[in-house]
Amino acid sequence: MPLVPMRQILDEAAKGGYGVGAFNVNNMEQIQAIMQAANDTNSPVIIQASRGALKYSKMIYLKKLMEAAVEEYPHIPVALHLDHGNSVETCKQAIELGFTSVMIDGSLKEDAKTPNTYEGNLEITMKVIELAHPLGVTVEAELGCLGGIEDGHGAGLSDKDVEAHLTDPAQAEEFVKQTGVDALAVAIGTSHGAYKSSRKDPVTGEVLPPKLAMDRIIEIHKRMPNCHMVMHGSSSVPQELVDIINKYGGKMPGTKGIPLEEIKKGIENGVRKVNVDTDSRLAITGAIRKVFWEQPEKFDPRDYLKPAREAAYQVYVERMKAFGQAGHAGDYKPLTLDDMKSYYKK
Ligand code: G3H
Ligand code: 13P
Ligand code: ZN
Repeated sequence: MPLVPMRQILDEAAKGGYGVGAFNVNNMEQIQAIMQAANDTNSPVIIQASRGALKYSKMIYLKKLMEAAVEEYPHIPVALHLDHGNSVETCKQAIELGFTSVMIDGSLKEDAKTPNTYEGNLEITMKVIELAHPLGVTVEAELGCLGGIEDGHGAGLSDKDVEAHLTDPAQAEEFVKQTGVDALAVAIGTSHGAYKSSRKDPVTGEVLPPKLAMDRIIEIHKRMPNCHMVMHGSSSVPQELVDIINKYGGKMPGTKGIPLEEIKKGIENGVRKVNVDTDSRLAITGAIRKVFWEQPEKFDPRDYLKPAREAAYQVYVERMKAFGQAGHAGDYKPLTLDDMKSYYKK
C-alpha cells in the first residue's frame, strides 16, 4: 500500500471514535518499531518527521526508509507527515519528497519561538493550503501556542502567559471556516518534552501533571463536531521509563507528562491525532543506558540498538491500544493523493 493521505486516516478515526498516534521518527529503529507495533496491533498509524529529523536523516534516507516500511507492511495504512513546518518552503520540500501531509505551524513565526498574530497565522496557513490541497496533501495548522521551548517548537511562555495563549474556541471556529484546514492543533496547556509541568503538590513537593484546559476541547468539538483536533505534547512521560534512565546514570529530575486518561478524554471529544515523541526517546535512552551500565564491555551498536528498538516498540504498542487505533488497520480501502485532489476540488 502506498502512503495514505492523513486526512483519510483522521476521517476514519472520527467515524470509529478513536485517536491515532502520530509518532516522531529520526532513524530506522524508530520506524521499524512503529511498523512492527502497528502490524502486531493491526493499527493505522501516522509517522511524522520534524525539520530537525529531516536534517538529521538527510531527507532521502528517511524517504527510502518509509518506502521500505510500506513495502514490508502493505496492509497497514500509514501517513507520512511533516511536524511543525515553519514556512511554505519547508512544506514544499516535504511534499516534493512524498509526504502525504504537512503541518504549517503558523502559531509561531518562522523562528519557531515567537508567537505570531492571528492574521499572520491565517496568511501562511492559506498559502500552504493553496500549495498542498491541489496535490491532495493534507494540511494541519495550529492555533494558540504551546508552552516550553525545550525542543524549539514552543513559545517559552511563563505559566501566566500560557493561559493567554490557549486556543480560543470562537477563533478556532473562524479559523477553520476561513482556511478549510484538515486538522487543527490546539493549545490546551500541553508542551513538548519531558518537563511539562511546574505545578507542585504544596505538601509533598511532588510535581503534578500540567493543568489542562479540556473545556476548550469540549467547546471546540461542540462548535465543530467534524473538526479533527490534534493534541501536541502528548507524551505521558511514564515514571518507570524515567526511573530506568536515572538508575543507569541519567539525570532527569522533576519530569511530568500527560496522563493517558486525559488523552482519552480528549479523544472522546474530537481529538483524532495524538503527537508522541518524548516517550519513545525516553524508552530508547533508558534501554541504551542499561546496556552501557551493565555491560560496559559491549561496543557493537546492535547490542544496544536492538533493546532500544524493543523498548520503543513497547511504548508504541501501549499507545496504539490506549488511543483506540488498534484493530482498525483493515477497516477501509486506502485513498491516494489523486483521490484527494478531486475531494479538495469540490
Ligand atoms: O514537536 C516536537 C517534536 O518532539 C520534534 O522535536 O524538533 O527535536 O525533532 P525535534
Ligand atoms: P511530546 O514531546 O510530548 O512527545 O510531543 C511531541 C509533539 O507534539 C510533536 O509534535
Ligand atoms: Zn508538536
